[in-house]
Amino acid sequence: MKVAAGSDHGGFALKRELCAALRAAGHEVADLGSHDETSVDYPDYARAVARAVARGEADRGLLCCGSGIGMAIAANKVAGVRAAVVSDPYSARMSRAHNDANVLCLGGRVVGGELAKDCLRAFLETPFEGGRHARRVAKLDEPDGER
Ligand code: RB5
Repeated sequence: MKVAAGSDHGGFALKRELCAALRAAGHEVADLGSHDETSVDYPDYARAVARAVARGEADRGLLCCGSGIGMAIAANKVAGVRAAVVSDPYSARMSRAHNDANVLCLGGRVVGGELAKDCLRAFLETPFEGGRHARRVAKLDEPDGER
C-alpha cells in the first residue's frame, strides 16, 4: 500500500517509528513532514495528508500529533476523507470494517510505539465490510442540513 504520513512536533517521533515499520513491511511511504521536533501547526500537515488521500495519490493516510485529535478534526474537513483517532487495535479495526476510514490518527503522547504499530497493522489489514455500513458511510458525505 501507499501511505501518506504527517505529523507535528507532538507526533514526530511516533510517525518516524511508524514510517520505518511501514517500509520494513514493504509499504510505500510518502512522508509529508514535519521533519523534526520544531513546533509547527498540525492543520498544515493534516491537510497535506488528507488531500493526498482524497486525490488518490495515497491509499491511506497516517497522522500523528500529541493526542491525534487535532489531526482528525483537520483531516475530516477534506471531502472524501474519513479520519479516525484511535488508541487501541479494536477501534482501529472497526474504523475500517464499519466506517471505511482512510486516515488513521494516533497520539504520540497517548500510545507507545508497539501499541501504535498494532493499531496501524489492524488499520491497514482490515477490509471495509460494506453492506449496511456502505449506506451509512454514504450518508457521511451528505452536506450538512440536506435532510
Ligand atoms: C501540540 O502541543 C498539540 O496541541 C498537538 O500535537 C495535538 O495534540 C493537537 O491536537
